[in-house]
Amino acid sequence: MAARILDGKSLAAKVRAAVKRDVEALAQRGIRPGLAVILAGDNPASRVYVRNKVRACEETGVRSEMYELPANVSEEALIDRVLALNDDSDIHGILVQLPLPKQIHADRVLESVAPAKDVDGFHESNLGALLAGKPRMVPCTPAGVMRLLDHAGVAIAGAHAVVIGRSNIVGKPLSLLLLQRDATVTICHSKSKDLENIARSADILVAAVGRAKLVTGRMVKPGACVIDVGVNRLTDGSLAGDVEFASASEVAGWITPVPGGVGPMTIAMLLENCLRAASASH
Ligand code: GUN
Repeated sequence: MAARILDGKSLAAKVRAAVKRDVEALAQRGIRPGLAVILAGDNPASRVYVRNKVRACEETGVRSEMYELPANVSEEALIDRVLALNDDSDIHGILVQLPLPKQIHADRVLESVAPAKDVDGFHESNLGALLAGKPRMVPCTPAGVMRLLDHAGVAIAGAHAVVIGRSNIVGKPLSLLLLQRDATVTICHSKSKDLENIARSADILVAAVGRAKLVTGRMVKPGACVIDVGVNRLTDGSLAGDVEFASASEVAGWITPVPGGVGPMTIAMLLENCLRAASASH
């Protein structure tokens, strides 16, 4: 039987509509959420992501400012820009699009963002709060995955969740969120042995490594919920997730498509984080 689709596109539209209503309510108190987006360099995929984020802001009434910096920008200039935005009371959220040009230490830049404005949830203090079980700003993609699971009514407590990928942006924070909801969590990565068998034991299987079609139907337990975080550009220009959709959707109970699954939820959670940051600042 073919899997049911976890439709991130339609759920994200509902979240954006709710954010829009809340933004209107904040306007009654004279508050307009403001997001600053910094794009350094000319990564074409980053440019598309940033454009989609700015468009979502416009649609929901969040004010956005975009700062485009050249690929050869210095770390100091980039951090100076962040520090100026930290001091700007009209800006409630700061997003530094990753990846950054190679001469820049991303961790130094991310640590320069004021934690209260860190709408990506990448600052060590926000990641630490999540680890301590007291989440503040939660990274957007993991938050979006949890929202999708809850919307579909997927049972998390007691489930075996296998997360393939251990990035600070997705794999690690998502594993913590699943653990907090009482899943039994296994984190797999490039050195993991016997990935196929571990994956096949998952009730919730998340692929977040950036390798096209890594997860095939053979690696999916019948009825499992399969979450595909990957967005990979193939040589023919088409998009593919980390999951081979055709074979996996034959076996899974639930599955996210690419595009239209996790991606729109990431942006919706970013808007929620901006709204929360703006509300908290007053
Ligand atoms: N690059 C890939 N995903 C993300 C994200 O969620 N936030 C930022 N800032 N950069 C990214």
